[in-house]
Amino acid sequence: MNFDIITLFPEMFDSIMNTSIIGRAQQKGLLNLSFHNIREFSSNKHKQVDDYSYGGGSGMVLMPQPLFDCFNYLEKRHGGRLPKVIYFTPQGKVLNQSMAQDMALEEELVLLCGHYEGIDQRVLDKYVDIELSIGDYILTGGELAAAVFIDCIARLVPGVLGNPDAHLEESFSNNLLEYPHYTRPAIYENYEVPEVLLSGNHEKIMKWRKRESLRNTFIKRPELLENTKLTQEEQKFLDSLNTEN
Ligand code: ADE
Repeated sequence: MNFDIITLFPEMFDSIMNTSIIGRAQQKGLLNLSFHNIREFSSNKHKQVDDYSYGGGSGMVLMPQPLFDCFNYLEKRHGGRLPKVIYFTPQGKVLNQSMAQDMALEEELVLLCGHYEGIDQRVLDKYVDIELSIGDYILTGGELAAAVFIDCIARLVPGVLGNPDAHLEESFSNNLLEYPHYTRPAIYENYEVPEVLLSGNHEKIMKWRKRESLRNTFIKRPELLENTKLTQEEQKFLDSLNTEN
């Protein structure tokens, strides 16, 4: 999967993208990140990239020229057709796992990170396909949002996670939160691992995990259950939690 990242601060990505699973994915060639520094596209002799907002108000706006030139350059590099362009902004649709799964099917994406007050609207009108937010709060720029996005998409790319089934059972698959995990020792400071997990009975373990997954979701994120398909037995268990509470 290839990402072109347009940013004023490529160095913000250094440690996050070169560590652990994402770092290894790049070394294996499963993930390619190309950073494009907006300032390098400025035709201004002082390499200016931002200016005052027409109409007044505080905060600077990223000028059209460096960004138009950057997109032109990327278009040429991609043989005349830009991949989908995502702009990170609190005004965008809020990213969730199901959107991430769809986007992981793309082979290449261009990620545009704003900074300061925003980007001249003409850039967004001409080039942006999707506006994405990572939550209803305001960051100083789109870089952290883009890093979160890359991390979340890259781990869905085949070969990036050691175990190809790893995301089948994780939180948000089937709209449920995951069940609790335990490792050795079986007893630690009087806290015991649930007996069923030591039983070796896979059917019972699967059933326990499904129930705990339902319980976790019911307690922590009950609104997710509105969009979850349940078997009759699972529904019955959920009803029993409802009457308990
Ligand atoms: N830029 C600033 N805040 C943001 C957010 N919450 N999500 C995505 N991009 C942003």
